Amino acid sequence: MEITVTVNDEPYRRSVEPRLLLVHFLRDELGLTGTHWGCDTSNCGTCVVWLDGLPVKSCTVLAAMADGKRVRTVEDLADGPRLDPVQQGFVACHGVQCGFCTPAMLMTARWLLDRDPDPDEGTIREAISGQLCRCTGYENIVRAVRWAAEHPDGET
Ligand code: FES
Ligand code: FES
Repeated sequence: MEITVTVNDEPYRRSVEPRLLLVHFLRDELGLTGTHWGCDTSNCGTCVVWLDGLPVKSCTVLAAMADGKRVRTVEDLADGPRLDPVQQGFVACHGVQCGFCTPAMLMTARWLLDRDPDPDEGTIREAISGQLCRCTGYENIVRAVRWAAEHPDGET
């Protein structure tokens, strides 16, 4: 079937199998490998992207369901060489170890801060509760999101 999906403000028209998952469309059809695929059970949350402005697990969405919609992936976060404040926060607070969960954590953090610019720790933990990090114990991820909240324009 033919679909047209706008990804990071670029329209893409592709012929896809009806069963193709959005995560595989992004990675294999478009080469946007910043979105990770970490499980077959919809549990890990490493595949989070925005679909029409809302974070979704892209392994739970068919590419066909994104037809006519807007997708935003981690590749769209930085503004050229200038990192988004959430990316800067993860660097400043060592929120990354292996990095496998990081793109999805960044997308959820940016979505949260766009709606709640000053979230407390509990709010941050709830926002990322659908995503697993096998490395960090979450402490530094929470600190990284708080850093971004305290530096809305990033480092100047
Ligand atoms: S790949 Fe694990 S929840 Fe999507
Ligand atoms: S940094 Fe390794 S899974 Fe989160």
